[in-house]
Amino acid sequence: ERDGFEHYMLKEIHEQPSALERAVNGRVTAEGDVHLEDFPSGSFAGVDDVQFVACGTSYHAALYARQLLAERGVPAQVFSAGEYATTPAPVDENTLVVAVTQSGETADTLASVRQADAAGARTLAVTNVVGSTAARECDDALFIRAGPEIGVAATKTFSSQVAVLSLLVERLTEDITGSPGEDRAGLLRALDRLPGDVQQVIDQSGPAGLADRFRDREGHFFIGRGVGFPVALEGALKFKEITYEHAEGFAAGELKHGPLALVTPDTPVFAVFTGRHDEKTLHNVEEVQSRGATVVGVGSEATPEVAATVDDFLPIPDTHPAAAGVLANVQLQLVSYHVADLLGRSIDKPRNLAKSVTVE
Ligand code: M6R
Repeated sequence: ERDGFEHYMLKEIHEQPSALERAVNGRVTAEGDVHLEDFPSGSFAGVDDVQFVACGTSYHAALYARQLLAERGVPAQVFSAGEYATTPAPVDENTLVVAVTQSGETADTLASVRQADAAGARTLAVTNVVGSTAARECDDALFIRAGPEIGVAATKTFSSQVAVLSLLVERLTEDITGSPGEDRAGLLRALDRLPGDVQQVIDQSGPAGLADRFRDREGHFFIGRGVGFPVALEGALKFKEITYEHAEGFAAGELKHGPLALVTPDTPVFAVFTGRHDEKTLHNVEEVQSRGATVVGVGSEATPEVAATVDDFLPIPDTHPAAAGVLANVQLQLVSYHVADLLGRSIDKPRNLAKSVTVE
């Protein structure tokens, strides 16, 4: 059932190209339009406030979507569902509350949408599980079609969430601003080639050779900006979840505001480059290198200045920055997997964690 893979997590990492095919299949027309089943053009007309609620990895996918919306001039907010459930944001009938939840059963996320619904908001579940509570209780549902995910660590569902949320972002941009996002064609092209690009990352298996350097370290830091920021958070979450080693993710610009005090030769830093504002992130890399930290850069193979500055380089195919984050994340998934494997951790069922968190 694991198809010869040692762990479900590794199997699910390898399933990402086919999951991504399904996520996008039939949702982009030959004319380059977004075709989202129940949500034709105009479905979100009148929405003037977008609020995402989610937990864990799904929260990171929501942050990714918010970044894409912001780049298109559409403001949106992202709430940790555990917070929203106790301190909900004000809503009215023009508010769209989007619950991002793989399982559709996360208690805090359900509590959040129930409150939003009772307060009169429109609710939408972006979920993997047809028939889940979120899909049934929200006004609408959009499915990510990733297929079952057994490993407690979310891998393929993050990639599929981002792909489907990218399409939703395009629909929302068009409906809320009255015109499509200006780089829609580029984004849709990148989504179309994403399965092949992810396959290329998996085939390189770069992180396997690096894993040995990341045991017995004081801490591991992950930095990025733009969509690279949620990828940094997700990289750190996956790392701590399955290796049990200390890891933290930051917005690259936050380093100087505190975390830099923790940086030493014993704290490797993973830096995510998406092709947007890379030069600023390179400055941050130099800052941590001057404190003796070793930097693993994850970025496009077409950016020699990044490869030349970092200490180790994990390449991703050259693509649109909006898709580059997904590719960088696959490299970081593989880093966490190989380190956890080396340390003999219980990769598919990490201690203290459950696949779906059904209590608040
Ligand atoms: O099913 P959900 O997407 O609502 O789950 C949310 C989180 O519990 C989940 O993403 C968790 O953070 C993962 N184990 C992370 O790998």
